[in-house]
Amino acid sequence: MSAKSTATRYGSVAIAIHWLSALLIVALFATGLLAAAQVDPAAKLALLRAHLPFGAGALLLTLLRIVWWLAIDRRPALPADQPGWQRAMAKVVHLLLYGIVLVTAASGIATVILSGALPAILGSATLPDLETVLPRAVHGLAARVLLVLLALHIGAAFYHQFIRKDRLLGRMGIGAA
Ligand code: HEM
Repeated sequence: MSAKSTATRYGSVAIAIHWLSALLIVALFATGLLAAAQVDPAAKLALLRAHLPFGAGALLLTLLRIVWWLAIDRRPALPADQPGWQRAMAKVVHLLLYGIVLVTAASGIATVILSGALPAILGSATLPDLETVLPRAVHGLAARVLLVLLALHIGAAFYHQFIRKDRLLGRMGIGAA
């Protein structure tokens, strides 16, 4: 498989970015939701110490993905017989996914900096109350919007795979293309 995409299939770089981002986002929801629900400060801190590098990874992969598509690679075309509204919807959901990952990551970083939590995360200071800063609320809201978009994205992939049976998942490295 070539590094760049062809007219009918994503290339190895796009496939690697896609599935690595998916893994990181699952890990981010697990660690983020557990941290938010955690009352024991030491356990909360341990979860945040895992959450932050995953978040930085998801942010860097999204920036890399934007550069990759804008400057280096071209997406395979959608199936020719797909209705126009579905093509438009796919484009909008994909753009919103990029945007909301950036907003979620930026608001997470702002929460850590503005709440003064960085010394606790890097060292042994006690963790301050994170809920006092506005970006914390933005982060929680953005993560929920991301969940809705992911549900639409995964639902569309399943619709292609199991209802239209056009093997769209194969283009992203899962099964035959
Ligand atoms: C796309 C990337 C990210 C996703 C999907 C994500 C997801 C989440 C989720 C679901 C929560 C729980 C929110 C709630 O229940 O209200 C959370 C909490 C949190 N996240 Fe993220 N996050 C991301 C990136 C980051 C980054 C880059 C940072 C900081 C560098 C960060 C810092 C935090 C903090 C400080 C909390 C609060 C935990 C608490 O209240 O105990 N997140 N995140």
